[in-house]
Amino acid sequence: DTSKLWGGRFSEPTDSFVQRYTASVTFDQRMAAEDIAGSRAHASMLASVGVLSAEELQQIQDGLDQVAAEIEAGEFQWSIELEDVHMNIEARLTELIGITGKKLHTGRSRNDQVATDIRLYLRGAIDRIAEELTRVQRGTIGLAADNTATIMPGFTHLQTAQPVSFGHHLLAWNEMLERDYGRLMDCRARMNQSPLGAAALAGTTYPIDRAQTAASLGFDKPTENSLDSVSDRDFAIEFCSFASLLMTHLSRMSEELVIWTSAQFNFIELPDRFCTGSSIMPQKKNPDVPELVRGKVGRVNGHLISLLTLMKSQPLAYNKDNQEDKEPLFDTIDTVLDSLRAFADMVPAIKPREVNMREAARSGFSTATDLADYLVGLGLPFRDAHEVVGKAVAHGVESGLDLAEMDLATLQGFCADIGEDVFDVLTLEGSIGARDHLGGTAPAQVAAAAVRANALLDQR
Ligand code: ARG
Repeated sequence: DTSKLWGGRFSEPTDSFVQRYTASVTFDQRMAAEDIAGSRAHASMLASVGVLSAEELQQIQDGLDQVAAEIEAGEFQWSIELEDVHMNIEARLTELIGITGKKLHTGRSRNDQVATDIRLYLRGAIDRIAEELTRVQRGTIGLAADNTATIMPGFTHLQTAQPVSFGHHLLAWNEMLERDYGRLMDCRARMNQSPLGAAALAGTTYPIDRAQTAASLGFDKPTENSLDSVSDRDFAIEFCSFASLLMTHLSRMSEELVIWTSAQFNFIELPDRFCTGSSIMPQKKNPDVPELVRGKVGRVNGHLISLLTLMKSQPLAYNKDNQEDKEPLFDTIDTVLDSLRAFADMVPAIKPREVNMREAARSGFSTATDLADYLVGLGLPFRDAHEVVGKAVAHGVESGLDLAEMDLATLQGFCADIGEDVFDVLTLEGSIGARDHLGGTAPAQVAAAAVRANALLDQR
């Protein structure tokens, strides 16, 4: 049939394959609530400037109430022939209220309509993501605060480096997430402008009030330029780059959880409810949840590249290409929300195995730097101290003894000035306690950092 909302200039119906190929309703119907909100704001504005009568506005609002109810109840008949969420809703409205329904689209285009809908939808998603991200941070900081004096080996190159507080390590995770939160808020602030009123690309001849629609939809202000308004998808790309970085961080955290739960490390225990078993090996308890979060970075990174490539070289203003923005964006939102939820539930349930962590920190010469610093205290230049301790470590590797396990005479063989007090600095507590400055791993510093980190969350 040629009875499309745009059928006037057409002499034959759309090819049925083309209909399916060009339709977006299967995936853009998730923006139905936003589409209706945008229509309500637009209609109210048209009434305030005298383009619609008060009575017409009332009819439209009532009709939209019913459309919304049908959608919510799952009774709405979505139709591929009507292409997208916008035309499905408008057609149903007209079916319900007759000729007035056809006036809703006055001074509007699907181009500014869809740009508005996506921003509204993404803004809602950002707010939910912000909540889940905050929940992950609360849990992480809470676990850190409980473990300021739990000692584990810190690593570089995944080789034992120096002892650190487990809480300190967790607060390093929180720093990554804190920056992610900042990026998310930057994205929200830049995005929160209303493109409504740009119409197809050039604006409209009606005396519209863009400030009114912007305000009623909770936007900070209307966008500046009509051409840009309908062609800009920066906000989607910016969101997806936030998401890529967040997922990168979650993947690093996941990788550590996977390593820490392995029998060889055995630093933590994940509750059974976050793990699964093997269908053949009865002993297995696999950390599927962190593994899957680690794996899901792939699709999120892919979506970012999809969107960048989608927008590359597009001439102004709207192009149908832009319909391809939705699936990557929506899947990114879903993946991020689920991954954050997994972490928010899982992190507070992590049980550190303090004895194993401590044992790992105690072996592996993790206090070698402390011994070098002690020698500097005796007057040796640091490079010479480094050399002396290197020889002591080589002896330890050969004899199977850690530094703290050597007797004083042995240590004095490497530097005669070493005294009995050396054993204070070779202890794990001595080592972490001595790093007592802002950003250091001393338990008191970690406790204070946890308080500051929580205070930042309280300000949100
Ligand atoms: N479904 C379209 C999209 O997602 C809506 C805008 C269509 N505009 C147009 N001129 N064909 O981009």
